[in-house]
Amino acid sequence: MILKACIFDLDGVIVDTAKYHFLAWKKLADQLGVKFTPASNESLKGVSRMESLGTILKSGNITLGQQEREELAAKKNDWFVEYLNNMSANEILPGVIAFLDDLDFNHVGKAIGSASKNAGLALRKIGLADRFDLIIDGTMVSRAKPDPEVFLKAATGLRLPPEQCLVFEDARAGIQAAHNGKMKCVGVGSPEILGEADLVIDSFSNINWMAVLKLLNTR
Ligand code: BG6
Ligand code: MG
Repeated sequence: MILKACIFDLDGVIVDTAKYHFLAWKKLADQLGVKFTPASNESLKGVSRMESLGTILKSGNITLGQQEREELAAKKNDWFVEYLNNMSANEILPGVIAFLDDLDFNHVGKAIGSASKNAGLALRKIGLADRFDLIIDGTMVSRAKPDPEVFLKAATGLRLPPEQCLVFEDARAGIQAAHNGKMKCVGVGSPEILGEADLVIDSFSNINWMAVLKLLNTR
């Protein structure tokens, strides 16, 4: 099947915001007296804000009503947005710009498929809001990854069948979402965590579109 577009997760793939989600959740978990480590953070990556909060509360055996949950989620988001507002293009991950340029050169479509409701703000902060044909974010979907909704909406918006789209993800839930949507997925990060992906790269440095195609076909 010929691949005609790439759908990128945002946090941890295009920009180094995954660390800010972690820091903001960590601050909240500390206030709640819940143990929270980089390892426990892995299961929150790619997952919606309210579901992430649910996981933290569950691990601390804390039961709260809807209003209190929303207040805590808003608190975490305020801290996260504070980090975003101080962010600049320096935090675009290595090799990303060159890879996007290479996709343009090869006439390959480009979309964002992010669970984040802050995706627009993050893209504006790093100056990449206009680099994508389409942005589907957390304000446009109702089902969180591993549900494929966000990626299927992106494929529809790109007017392509899912099989012609390649997803890039740093989260296990995201890889599962891509596969649930019948899309191939490149994991960006560590093979130990992202082993379910069709291909794992440690970053976009030293990789181009032709190399990705070659590596996918040789597996
Ligand atoms: C994903 C992140 O991209 O967006 C998650 O990987 C985050 O960590 C989720 O919880 C929702 O983001 P936001 O900005 O809407 O709280
Ligand atoms: Mg991510």
